[in-house]
Amino acid sequence: MPDLFDPIELGGFSAKNRIFMSPLTRARAGRDAVPTAIMAKYYAQRAEAGLIITEATGISREGLGWPYAPGIWSDEQVEAWKPITKAVHDRGGRIVCQLWHMGRMVHSSVTGLQPVAPSPTTAPGQSHTYDGKQPYEEARALRLDEIPRILAEYERASQNAIKAGFDGIQLHAANGYLIDEFLKDGTNHRTDEYGGSPENRIRLLSQITERIISTIGGERTGVRLSPNGDTQGCLDSAPETVFVPAAAELERLGVAWLELREPGPNGTFGKTDQPPVSPQIRKVFRRPLVLNQDYTFESAQDAVREGRADAIAFGRKFISNPDLPTRFAQGLPLQADDMATWYSRGEHGYTDYSFAE
Ligand SMILES: Cc1cc2nc3c(=O)[nH]c(=O)nc-3n(C[C@H](O)[C@H](O)[C@H](O)COP(=O)(O)O)c2cc1C
Repeated sequence: MPDLFDPIELGGFSAKNRIFMSPLTRARAGRDAVPTAIMAKYYAQRAEAGLIITEATGISREGLGWPYAPGIWSDEQVEAWKPITKAVHDRGGRIVCQLWHMGRMVHSSVTGLQPVAPSPTTAPGQSHTYDGKQPYEEARALRLDEIPRILAEYERASQNAIKAGFDGIQLHAANGYLIDEFLKDGTNHRTDEYGGSPENRIRLLSQITERIISTIGGERTGVRLSPNGDTQGCLDSAPETVFVPAAAELERLGVAWLELREPGPNGTFGKTDQPPVSPQIRKVFRRPLVLNQDYTFESAQDAVREGRADAIAFGRKFISNPDLPTRFAQGLPLQADDMATWYSRGEHGYTDYSFAE
């Protein structure tokens, strides 16, 4: 069996190890959602990762409600991503862009538009806006005649990602955002062909994935799902009934790799008593499977050596340890991350975490 330090083929390219950086929103872009120069420094510092999955990146203004998060719908954004992908490649790293439509998790004060979702629902809690936190607003149901526009936006974003020099994309279909809202019965109350049966709730994921694959190729396409538990009020009553067929569909479409965020009962980034679905998904999705959440070096090494996963994605450990693979390899202590600077502006808590001596 391989271990975390072995390379792995991910469709179109090879990753030098199986220690991946999971997608992390850090809010260091401009107010116009254009990436900034410090982002190149931050990502290049983390190029030891077998694969960097970028922070969630908006496919459209409607889909991006997070203050100072980047987008990839305009030429200006593409140009600003180029030095970032180059900086990572120059240091021997690999980087894919996580494509994001936030669905109901946006605030109209940021997007200028009412949130859209499968059904008219309101997320619990409060949204980050430029004027502090504000309660989420009720989403309107996406109309059938709008689906072609959404597909076209994913096509443009995936094409732009390749123009910007990314090795591929990761479709963000997790964590209570638009695609996850369609997948889960707690947020999808539609009675048309996009609601009801698992087959119908998978339809949007399937159509978006198919469109991206026809644009940039399956070998450059990965997907992230979060089958179990409640994320931002988005919950399915029986996750295995929808996520196992969803994974089988992604296998059929030719997705190169799949990442799952799976909290456990003692999770520190969301927790749940719903069991992970990865053991069943592993049987239907035969290409590389990446697992995430709350992994330590030891539990990650066990998961890969025992064949439960092909790679492990680390989030918070990569925020505070830019040289995480070296620290793992040499058994060096890890630095703790500071929540106060997760989404703050500037270099502090972003590019100033130190490397091991
Ligand atoms: C500051 C922060 C930002 C995050 N942003 C994203 C994101 O943009 N996209 C995403 O899919 N997950 C996001 N996540 C979730 C992480 O990718 C990951 O699932 C989570 O941190 C659990 O993994 P860990 O235990 O290794 O930290 C974020 C998590 C944190 C802490």
